[in-house]
Amino acid sequence: MTHSSAADTTREENLNPVTPSNQWVLASNNKGKLAEFKRLFAAADLDVTIIPQGQLDIEDAIEDGLSFVENAIIKARHASRASGLPAIADDSGLCVPVLGNAPGIYSARYAGEHGNDAKNNAKLIAELQPIRDTQPSTPIKGMFVCVLAMVRHADDPLPIIAQGLWQGEILAAPYGDGGFGYDPLFWLPELQATAASLSAADKNSVSHRGQAIRQLLTQLPL
Ligand code: IMP
Repeated sequence: MTHSSAADTTREENLNPVTPSNQWVLASNNKGKLAEFKRLFAAADLDVTIIPQGQLDIEDAIEDGLSFVENAIIKARHASRASGLPAIADDSGLCVPVLGNAPGIYSARYAGEHGNDAKNNAKLIAELQPIRDTQPSTPIKGMFVCVLAMVRHADDPLPIIAQGLWQGEILAAPYGDGGFGYDPLFWLPELQATAASLSAADKNSVSHRGQAIRQLLTQLPL
């Protein structure tokens, strides 16, 4: 004899295809990211309204994964569960190979205070100084990483994943007024610019986030 509990019913509902929604939650409260997403989604001309999770009073998720992809999925599920809508999350950061890929998934809180860009940049400069002192003419490589996860519903067993990598060099002092986060330290030798001295449109055309969104769009419709 089989028993059907409320938990089984919920599990079955969660595995069933959901009705496509033309509203998606964007699982981020980071102003810099939100500004870039707005432009990128506008350019994509999707028949979807993107709602930042802050507009729905959804708090940030606890990011306790060990990789960008784990944290992106955690954030997307959290926003989808809280809203009942499909959700898309970005987990991103700066990886510096000579620092064992730090700050990595801890980029937003590298200096201990979430989202304090000035302190994070100062810490990165300080951590790299001894390495620069020993090899003054060798550029220090770094890469921005962006992993996007999209879930159709909170327990979606098949999240859509896209990843963008952007290679550059880390400067010893900030340059440029635009962007956010580590942009003023991220030098692009081929453009003779930092990510902070590019226009918003130019940054999106080459950045880790721009690459990841364009890759995600190739995987739609859901
Ligand atoms: P998350 O919100 O946990 O994904 O953390 C992202 C952090 O990575 C930001 O707070 C920035 O410090 C850094 N970051 C990610 N993308 C960028 C970018 O495009 N420019 C500069 N810093 C970035």
